[in-house]
Amino acid sequence: MTSKRQKLSLVAEAQTLCELPLYPGTLGPDVIDVQALYQATGLFTYDPGFSSTASCRSAITYIDGDAGVLLYRGYPIEQLAEHCRFLEVCYLILHGELPDPDPLRAFERNITLHTMVHDQLSNFFKGFRRDAHPMAILVGVVGALSAFYHEALDIRSGRDREMSAIRLIAKVPTIVAMCHKYSTGMPFMYPQNRLGYVENFLYMMHATPCDEYRPNPVLVNALDRILILHADHEQNASTSTVRLSGSSGANPYACVSAGIACLWGAAHGGANESVLNMLEEIGDVSRIPAYIARAKDRNDPFRLMGFGHRVYKNYDPRARLMRSTCHEVLNELDLHDDRLFALALELERIALEDDYFIGRKLYPNVDFYSGIVLHALGIPTKLFTALFAMGRTVGWIAHWAEMISDPEHRIGRPRQLYTGPARRDVPAGHRRTR
Ligand code: SDX
Repeated sequence: MTSKRQKLSLVAEAQTLCELPLYPGTLGPDVIDVQALYQATGLFTYDPGFSSTASCRSAITYIDGDAGVLLYRGYPIEQLAEHCRFLEVCYLILHGELPDPDPLRAFERNITLHTMVHDQLSNFFKGFRRDAHPMAILVGVVGALSAFYHEALDIRSGRDREMSAIRLIAKVPTIVAMCHKYSTGMPFMYPQNRLGYVENFLYMMHATPCDEYRPNPVLVNALDRILILHADHEQNASTSTVRLSGSSGANPYACVSAGIACLWGAAHGGANESVLNMLEEIGDVSRIPAYIARAKDRNDPFRLMGFGHRVYKNYDPRARLMRSTCHEVLNELDLHDDRLFALALELERIALEDDYFIGRKLYPNVDFYSGIVLHALGIPTKLFTALFAMGRTVGWIAHWAEMISDPEHRIGRPRQLYTGPARRDVPAGHRRTR
């Protein structure tokens, strides 16, 4: 869509305060460039949740929230989830094009050769309680990775940026599996170079030194698709956290660690764990109406976890794909009567017939069904958000690299609407001579 208008005039009391440039995107709304607004008018814009604010230019992902469309580098998520593998999509998100067979093989081999972590990294785990939340460990250990790669932290070097991306995509699954093993008291399992990316992760999660372990190919495919669905999502809270951290020149491991911390929140990636806890708490279809009533009650802080989205005002395309993956996995595992899935389907049906949810365009989001699939795959509930982080690492590092490479980029430093006290002097009673 190209914009016919090139400028927007800001007029107050019949006087033009300033003219602001308008920029069209390839898709989606035009933007008003307000960078000169304060200098020209002494005014700030005010948009605390960034509902109407574009924080950057980006060519990676596009969401049409009203139409329920999600594109990674222009390709619909439905086609990528159906026809591609997660590492292929990682290459696409990082480099902008789907890889030909040889570059894909080289990329996969490079990832494989970096799945092992420095042996001293395991010492970090010993400082955590065995029942520490995996996201607490992940924030710490991923941030600590920068202590092992001093020679490749020059953010101005394309080679170092590429190396950091490879290391993070390769090592986060290993660290997530280590979180799981540490919580069980079982020994860490080293990655196996003979295995594919997702197979390797399930091996490190479920194998022991005492037994052979080969994951079910249907479950490997399902988890591969789940990682594709989580890979990127425009300027969501955690990606914006990575960008803002990176704008100061912080190293990519520290920035991704900040993204992990933000993702942990229940309003964001932590919702997948909250959905499963909510379904367990509801427990039975007969109790759904009471919980729907609570979700609608302004005086009750309870929200229907896995429902609603800042951008999607239509069905989240990832939720639809996640629901079909649910069917596939439950059928493969002969869990047709999985009570949580039946409860989730009934909860969705009732909510989507209720005027409160219809009127606010609240639909299931990516987190609503993901917990049920992950639960069926034998992933402990506490590890759900860590798996979301595994999928989103490529999106975070791609946005970080896009920002660092953008000649326009500068340190992010929002302003504010100040509502505190005007200038005042310290009262005599509080004045002490030093
Ligand atoms: C993710 O940004 C991304 O792209 C995120 C993500 C990604 O891939 O990175 O998609 C991943 O974070 C998905 C969202 C996971 N979170 C949840 O499922 C938690 C439950 N959802 C809500 O907390 C909420 O919907 C948010 C946080 C997702 C969105 O919040 P908004 O955009 O600030 O919406 P809002 O709070 O302004 O809600 C508008 C209205 C309000 O009612 P009114 O004040 O108009 O009367 O809808 C209501 C809200 O109370 N509402 C809900 C609700 N979500 C919104 N009411 C009950 N249950 C809900 N889940």
